[in-house]
Amino acid sequence: MNETINLMKSHSSVRRFKDERISEPDLQAIIEAGSAASSWKNFQSYSIIVVRSSEKKQSLYDLVPQPAVLQADTILVFVGDHNRASKAAQLHQADFDAKGTENLLISSVDAALAGQNAMLAAESLGYGGVFIGMIRHSALAVAELFALPDYTYPIFCIALGVPNQHFPVKPRLRLDAFVFQEEYKEQTVETIVAHDAVQTEYAGARQTELWSERLVNQFKQEEQPETKALLEKHKLL
Ligand SMILES: Cc1cc2nc3c(=O)[nH]c(=O)nc-3n(C[C@H](O)[C@H](O)[C@H](O)COP(=O)(O)O)c2cc1C
Repeated sequence: MNETINLMKSHSSVRRFKDERISEPDLQAIIEAGSAASSWKNFQSYSIIVVRSSEKKQSLYDLVPQPAVLQADTILVFVGDHNRASKAAQLHQADFDAKGTENLLISSVDAALAGQNAMLAAESLGYGGVFIGMIRHSALAVAELFALPDYTYPIFCIALGVPNQHFPVKPRLRLDAFVFQEEYKEQTVETIVAHDAVQTEYAGARQTELWSERLVNQFKQEEQPETKALLEKHKLL
């Protein structure tokens, strides 16, 4: 196809890293590529906190005990951010109310686009990484750790470094299970059965439960309370 599409299609999350650094110019390029993503009305309703010190990584690991957090050279913490908008309101002596689902979607989508751009840029330079959404399970403590003010909330982080593992690309759903022509086409259980078989073949001996069982378990869980508590505390809900 072309180099860009080949890079995108060869993505695979990396959770183990060599003890090697990402150079400063590379990190700068990764972050600038992230910020080149589109954003709602060009507001860039997110911020990125760059974590490189062992102390901060250890503190984050204490809250989110995933080995990638400790091993990564750099953690980029993506924060949904309407705090700057509050300063615009201050400038124009306007009332400010950031509460609501639409504002959360705006900032979460902006952050996700920037994050994916950054990930691809990192991969193009030979680095690897993984998104870590589990930071939201400790949203209150994570917000404290990074001194997040009102109107901001942690969404995900990306652990980045020089890969010490390489997995083959994980299979995706067949296109006709999620790409529809002209109108939505609700799927049947057969789609799920077929994708279970694909995922089982990919995972081989590593598989402990079916793909569909993991889905069921996700939706069986009570909603974790931290995100809502933090959003309320930071005047976003
Ligand atoms: C928003 C988001 C949050 C994620 N959170 C985690 C996480 O907390 N821990 C983890 O190991 N992987 C996490 N992942 C990585 C996914 O598990 C991974 O992308 C998925 O299994 C597909 O695998 P691949 O990225 O290798 O193609 C996350 C991915 C996304 C997009």
